[in-house]
Amino acid sequence: MAQYTRVSGSVGLITLQSPPVNALSAAVRQGIVDLMQRALSEPEVKSVVICGQNGIFCGGADIKEFGGQMSGPPLIPMIHAIEAASKPVVAAIEGIALGGGLELALGCHYRIAHSKARVGLPEVTLGLLPGAGGSQRLPRLIGVPAALDLITTGRHVTAAEALKFGLVDQITDHNTVNVAVKFAQRVADQPLDARRISTYPCLCPSDVAVLFEEVMQRVRRTARGAIAPIACVQAVRAAATLPYNQGMERERELMATLFTSGQARALQYFFFAQRAVGRWSMPSGARWDTSKPRPVHKAAVIGLGTMGRGITVALAQAGFSVVAVETQEKQLMEAKQKISGMLERGAKRRGVAPALDKINYGRNIQSVADADLVIEAVFEDMALKKKVFQQLSAVCKPSTFLCSNTSGLDIDQLACQTRNPELVVGMHFFAPAHVMKLLEVVYGPKSSPLAVATAMQLGKKIGKVSVAVGNCRGFVGNRMLKPYLEQALFLLEEGATPEFVDQVLEEFGFAMGVFRMSDLSGLDVGWKVRMADGLAMPDPTTGQPTRLRQGRRYSPLGDLLCEQGRFGQKTGRGWYQYDKPGSQVAKPDPWLHSFLDEYRARHALVAHRIDHQEVLERCLYSMINEGFRILEDGIAAGPEDIDVIYVFGYSWPRHRGGPMFYAATVGLNKVLERLEHYYQAHPDVPSLQPCHLLRKLVASGSPPIQKWREVIKKVRSQL
Ligand code: NAI
Repeated sequence: MAQYTRVSGSVGLITLQSPPVNALSAAVRQGIVDLMQRALSEPEVKSVVICGQNGIFCGGADIKEFGGQMSGPPLIPMIHAIEAASKPVVAAIEGIALGGGLELALGCHYRIAHSKARVGLPEVTLGLLPGAGGSQRLPRLIGVPAALDLITTGRHVTAAEALKFGLVDQITDHNTVNVAVKFAQRVADQPLDARRISTYPCLCPSDVAVLFEEVMQRVRRTARGAIAPIACVQAVRAAATLPYNQGMERERELMATLFTSGQARALQYFFFAQRAVGRWSMPSGARWDTSKPRPVHKAAVIGLGTMGRGITVALAQAGFSVVAVETQEKQLMEAKQKISGMLERGAKRRGVAPALDKINYGRNIQSVADADLVIEAVFEDMALKKKVFQQLSAVCKPSTFLCSNTSGLDIDQLACQTRNPELVVGMHFFAPAHVMKLLEVVYGPKSSPLAVATAMQLGKKIGKVSVAVGNCRGFVGNRMLKPYLEQALFLLEEGATPEFVDQVLEEFGFAMGVFRMSDLSGLDVGWKVRMADGLAMPDPTTGQPTRLRQGRRYSPLGDLLCEQGRFGQKTGRGWYQYDKPGSQVAKPDPWLHSFLDEYRARHALVAHRIDHQEVLERCLYSMINEGFRILEDGIAAGPEDIDVIYVFGYSWPRHRGGPMFYAATVGLNKVLERLEHYYQAHPDVPSLQPCHLLRKLVASGSPPIQKWREVIKKVRSQL
């Protein structure tokens, strides 16, 4: 909806009214069309201002209308009518002008923005392009290079940056609507011909063909299979090379292709999934809207290795006072230096002062006594962690929340070491912790809703996407990773090479294939865990590595590499070879190929031809099957939680929506049928056995993913 008022005698003020972000719903579009007509027909009105209520101009198209039957006036003719109006129209941009909101503003003759406003065309993040003339007007207004940057990345820019680009005409610190009204009065008699962006020539640099080629190559490299960024480049190329009307036709064609693509559906699903994870719930019935967090003023981090440093930086950058503790003097000095460097680089990028003074360093655990919340990030060793939790429980205030950054150990065992187990949760960050968006907040059987709510809120304050999950080995992300890694190793045993498996996974859209990723993280990390679990030992009778553990197939390949000192990038050798330790350029290693041949010969394994389909199905479907088990066990509340974890923590390609959404798009019956096929071929691999929930969903007619929770509830109630 929109409201009309006449202000200062001669200005028609149209206020968009559709909380929370004044999205361009059918009713809002109808309001704009009607009120523009009214303003143009009133003789006293000499100019028009369009603004949004509650300090927000417009958040863009109403995404809830996507996929439904289109009703109300379409956006493109509405924006054309504004641009063609005989009276000047000024956009008063407060808060945000995003997507369709910015396209509306580009149809206006002038744009005045508040200094704190942000503008952008984020359609690409939803698998679309700015399809209401944005791809054609923006390059005409700010030039091809800047428009390509904004449209292909979807990034939001500040008002100051928008002014620099010439995207807005003026910025103000005062009441934007008042400033826009005065401005509208001033320009009431000015000719409008030179203000209609669609009539501008598209100014191109002389080497425009080279520019487009370069941008297209870069976009293809980084898109990881997403088609929208490529369509965005094509649309801007149309603006640069075709007359406006033909450019609009190209924009329409490209948009039609994107709109019906599975990728747009996946990205729109993912948009809502990110919101859904904020509405967390626990099996006890505790929920986000009934559990109040407690404010955290002072936080502490114990252990300043890779993770502790990143966590300290994330907290300090968000304005928290942090006590950072490391027991070894040498490690403490090194951590101080690294943390200061990270803060300084971050501050330089963001144009702010580094938050160095937010951190107090110490070597004694006593120094965290008055912290409101402590995050432990010492080595992944249960005995050590238990000791640290006992110490924390003795020195901290009784009200202090005690959190562990463990990547998969039992939170309940840690809680049992403390006086107040209800205040213990897992806060599982991902490396590098000041960069990666994901945070798994892990509740144990004793964790209180207060502790979960507080950790979730802290996560939000430090800019993380926090997902509340239950307590089990590996939680959600690492638990699902296990069968995926396991299948990749089995594929090597059966004839594949690391580079082939990685190539298939990277073509699917992962930033890195499983073996390149293992080389980056360090093969020794998993090896230590397997040794602690008693897995990475040779058979006591033969002294040979065993391929069967407790009746299950086991691949000792990773252990054998570690025994050779091949820990990945850090040692210059792993699944690949590197020029020198620390180098990131992975090259196929002939040594490894012969090693695999010998291994197969030793174990009488006959290599067979493994194709793309087998790699994808075995790696992904076994992981998805574990995802269904996680849902069945109540470790994740819904498929959205799993999908958000995988996209933000494990580089799952966002345009495929996440593993559970992908399963739905492939078809649950197909996933079930292929798992059955592989399980029959490998009966000693339990992760390939289709789980009960997957069978139940297929038996229920494979409902859409939004309806899975109903089936999950039934399955859980029967357990
Ligand atoms: P790290 O080995 O880099 O650092 C551990 C640090 O803890 C060392 O600096 C050590 O001196 C210090 N430390 C040991 N005992 C201590 C004590 N009693 N008091 C204070 N400091 C102590 O290990 P990293 O990689 O940072 O891992 C830490 C935790 O985070 C582990 O539980 C790990 O599983 C988890 N994690 C690691 C991820 C990774 O990618 N490295 C990702 C997510 C979680």
